[in-house]
Amino acid sequence: MANTRIVDMLEVTEAAALAAGRWMGKGDKHAADDAAVQAMRKALNDIDISGRIVIGEGERDEAPMLFIGEEVGSGGHKIDIAVDPLEGTNLTADGQPNSLAVLAFGPENTLLHAPDTYMNKIAVGPEAATAIHIDASPTENLANIAKALKRPVEDLVVCILDRDRHADLISEVRTAGARIRLITDGDVFGAVATAIEGTGIHVYMGIGAAPEGVLACAAMLCIGGCFMGRFVWRNEEERGRAKVMGTCNIDDVLTMDCLVDTDEVAFIATGVTDGEMLRGVKYFGAGARTHSVTMDGKTGTVRFVETVYRTGDEKFWVRMD
Ligand code: FBP
Repeated sequence: MANTRIVDMLEVTEAAALAAGRWMGKGDKHAADDAAVQAMRKALNDIDISGRIVIGEGERDEAPMLFIGEEVGSGGHKIDIAVDPLEGTNLTADGQPNSLAVLAFGPENTLLHAPDTYMNKIAVGPEAATAIHIDASPTENLANIAKALKRPVEDLVVCILDRDRHADLISEVRTAGARIRLITDGDVFGAVATAIEGTGIHVYMGIGAAPEGVLACAAMLCIGGCFMGRFVWRNEEERGRAKVMGTCNIDDVLTMDCLVDTDEVAFIATGVTDGEMLRGVKYFGAGARTHSVTMDGKTGTVRFVETVYRTGDEKFWVRMD
């Protein structure tokens, strides 16, 4: 995106991942999250931007840092920033795959300020981008995706969060003949993986957190996939709060341009634990290695970036992968 360099923002997710990765497998998801939040906030404040957090750790009164509306950066170009310093806190605490440090950014007033509620989501990669609709049944969507990908439904893998609320969805997908990858957490990965060949995931379906929906949508917009959603309110109070916030389409289909109203969006994720899309942080005494993906909506450029940080004076060989 013009004026704000993706490489500067890459250091922000790298900082969060480097801090959170230390908590891998330690059974303390709050400590892992706190470490990621503090590192991400510090890194953001070192960049010459005038950033506003639109998706963050929660409302101002419930989150001390990176709350919605917080201003970050040392001054400069005005941007909206959506963050999830540690997407998959349980995954990190349990040493499970695919936890990520994530952010997306775009020009001021372009990213939806999504309330802390749930969203029914569907995502597919570029080749099936016109084949889905959030209001179509899973059976219908799978038939259309299979046609677009020129394969039988039996060859599709659907990623779904393993939750009781998905019992009917899982049963319908099985009846339709598709295979399923159940995940315990981390549906930003689930959605983005549909657009990355080699992850073995073709479709993401189901209800997850709404803020994560905006992050996933930013990635899909950069990479040419499709994401659609609908808010799922737990109560009237939540719906009322969204209305007051001025959130668009509160009872309608959440199309990509409603969630992210610009092509000049960028998405960045750094692996915390090893996964199908990104490798996790590796520490090796004299330094650490991170693995990230950056996506630029304006140019369509996608980069997989490996970074070696030297933490001491010791010089060492950098290995090629
Ligand atoms: P964390 O906030 O603990 O990292 O969990 C993230 C997540 O798994 C998302 O990926 C997903 O959208 C959401 O939680 C699901 O929420 P719930 O656990 O309430 O079903």
